[in-house]
Amino acid sequence: MDYFEHDSSTGKAILEVLNETSPWRRPIWLMRQAGRYLPEYRELRASAGSFLDLCYAPELAAEVTLQPLRRFDLDAAIIFADILLLPQALGCELAFKENEGPKLSPVRNLSDFNRLKDQGAVARLEPVYETVSRVKEALPAHVGLIGFCGAPWTVATYVVEGGTSADRKNTKLAAFAGADWFEALIGMLVETSIDYLSAQIEAGAEVVQVFDTWAGDLSDDLRDRYCFAPIAKIAAGVRSRHPGVPVIGFARGIGVGHLEFARQCGLDAVGVEWSVPLDWINSTLQEETVMQGNLDPLCLVAGGEGLAQGVQRICNTVRYDRHIMNLGHGIRQDTPPEHVAELVKHVRNADRERGG
Ligand code: CP3
Repeated sequence: MDYFEHDSSTGKAILEVLNETSPWRRPIWLMRQAGRYLPEYRELRASAGSFLDLCYAPELAAEVTLQPLRRFDLDAAIIFADILLLPQALGCELAFKENEGPKLSPVRNLSDFNRLKDQGAVARLEPVYETVSRVKEALPAHVGLIGFCGAPWTVATYVVEGGTSADRKNTKLAAFAGADWFEALIGMLVETSIDYLSAQIEAGAEVVQVFDTWAGDLSDDLRDRYCFAPIAKIAAGVRSRHPGVPVIGFARGIGVGHLEFARQCGLDAVGVEWSVPLDWINSTLQEETVMQGNLDPLCLVAGGEGLAQGVQRICNTVRYDRHIMNLGHGIRQDTPPEHVAELVKHVRNADRERGG
């Protein structure tokens, strides 16, 4: 099995890139690499009951985290959990309805906000830290372990809307109004996210990623205030407690804004969506930071020659020593698992063509 193929003297390629050294091979992992496209995930999820039951059962969550690594020769594991566990711990009721996505009790004014409780919230997520330490023990030496949280803006959109929404309208109206309760919600998410990520690091996470899936909603004035400023505080807070642990930011949909994002937040890497031109990434973004991405998840669904060309184009255009191969957003559930194996093979072939 690929999983055990490497000897223990091999370094962790993902940490090498994040620490600004040339990696022994181009690291690759995929956002949402554990999940419903894998039959073994669907099987375990059915036996656990619900998605949330699975998240709070460390033994099962650790197994699900490892499933993609048993199949594919990846360079990192990402802990199996969800960005919505933190607002749940803060007191938002949370349920995942089959085929409907998440449902939360909405926070739309000061009295809703006052029902949230940050006291003890991060301690309630103890099962997540236990998952981290179980995975850490099981991982081969060359595989890095990534912890994560949602960014305040993205988490706030789910909290304010009460779930997934078409246009995040209520959240944007609160942002344009600069409502006091909304500022307080963002502030609470910043502080608890620092504690949450720190606890994951103390349990064994070696890298942390902040997911701002809905950053592209914001015009640049609001982006500074609700995406960059909160993530800058989270990155600085994590760094002050755990210097040397790299922080990756994924602000989806901000285009050329990724450069300013990396600068203002002092990030070690930024996740980039597929619509960002590779030439700009190479000439400009990689001068500032490491680029993580940016294959279109549908290119992976397509497979075949299109996938081979998509991977080759990225590998031939962007800087090797400043790149973590990934998708531009999470893997889709209609992805054939064999295509992931092909993707990894193409990345390894690109290394060989470089003469590596
Ligand atoms: O990357 C991984 O493999 C680790 C686990 C992980 C999950 N969610 C598991 C999950 C991570 C990192 C996330 C992040 C997450 N969760 C984000 C940010 C990244 C992104 O994809 O944009 C967001 C916005 C969420 C919130 C969320 N969780 C939604 C909107 C949904 C329902 C829609 C969907 O895709 O199913 C989830 C559910 C969820 N989170 C599943 C998994 C494996 C599917 C649950 C199931 O098994 O039914």
